[in-house]
Amino acid sequence: MINMGIIGLGHWGPNLLRNFSNHPEVNIKIVCDKDVNKKAKITQQGIEFTQNSTDITAADNGIDTVVIVTPLATHFKLAKSALKNGKHLFIEKPIAPTSAETLELVEIAKENNVHFMVGHVFLYNAGIRFVKEQIASGELGKILYIHGQRTNLGPVRPDASALWDLAAHDVSIFNYWLDAVPESSTANGSALLNPDIEDIVNATFNYPNKIKCNILASWLHPSKVRQITVVGDKKMLIWDDMSPSEPVRIFDKSICRADMPEQIEGTLSEFRFSIQDGQIFIPRVKQCEPLKEECNHFIDCILNNTKPLSDGVNGYHVVAALEAATKSIHDNSASIEVKIAEAYK
Ligand SMILES: NC(=O)c1ccc[n+]([C@@H]2O[C@H](COP(=O)([O-])OP(=O)(O)OC[C@H]3O[C@@H](n4cnc5c(N)ncnc54)[C@H](O)[C@@H]3O)[C@@H](O)[C@H]2O)c1
Repeated sequence: MINMGIIGLGHWGPNLLRNFSNHPEVNIKIVCDKDVNKKAKITQQGIEFTQNSTDITAADNGIDTVVIVTPLATHFKLAKSALKNGKHLFIEKPIAPTSAETLELVEIAKENNVHFMVGHVFLYNAGIRFVKEQIASGELGKILYIHGQRTNLGPVRPDASALWDLAAHDVSIFNYWLDAVPESSTANGSALLNPDIEDIVNATFNYPNKIKCNILASWLHPSKVRQITVVGDKKMLIWDDMSPSEPVRIFDKSICRADMPEQIEGTLSEFRFSIQDGQIFIPRVKQCEPLKEECNHFIDCILNNTKPLSDGVNGYHVVAALEAATKSIHDNSASIEVKIAEAYK
């Protein structure tokens, strides 16, 4: 049995509490939130409650696994304490506000030989996994570019920008699909509601092989959109998380340079292209609850001593990309290198 302590019971924490509570190998021993109003709901379920996170992260307290679901600014201190005391750790995304802190946590987890996983929940989404297979199998041909939009009216975060809160998901998806980390980023953003916290961000991440991945992230938008378009030189597809029964559409569409007869070379005709505008295929993608898959995966990794798909290094790559995009926003959209420590490239 895994003895677990959960820190943070705000908007997202109850979802993790529910999923881990349902796991037959997990015993939720204690839940912490600094807000005492959360106590009644927890004690009603027969679970101990504390307002003091060290009750969960301290060594030799009978808790072997910690889950952190608190705001980003609190992550580093709580995670460091848990990892240093030899706990397996699941932490919500993004791991920490800087790549240096994230790297320190990765190293502490390694030294203490514990499992360290970040909640990049879209890596456990059936549609996202299906697209990964399409890209890897060559069905779309050579990937030319990827474009995403993640918008909604709220929730407005007081502690992390739309880049860190929303686009963190998309960077984790791009890295997963392309099996790579971006080399550089250019971005712009506007802080319209709170000074210094961008509510709307346009970011481009430049991946190897000249693949550009763009994302528009905003919580100041009239409609909820979670969509990513992948354009290959053979086919194109759209993943749409707002269409759960049909999350992927594959378009037999492409444009390539037409073969040109020699005699018209040098004229305008040499720029002719041939357009393939074929069928649209809607594959059946088996539904599952991504959060349940994610929680089960974490527990499996602990029980079988295997590496999580979204392990600390995976989360470090995302933080390094977000950090570069943030620097670009603050430097008039200059191109900023994504710096990854040599050992984790
Ligand atoms: N994977 C996803 O789709 C997803 C969705 C939402 C949020 N999240 C992530 O989950 C984390 C939490 O987000 P949220 O929306 O639940 O935030 P929230 O502000 O709604 O809740 C945070 C809770 O943590 C408590 N808290 C803060 N500092 C604490 C401390 N030091 N000790 C104990 N309790 C403390 C607060 O009282 C609050 O109840 C963030 O990292 C966020 O990015 C992930």
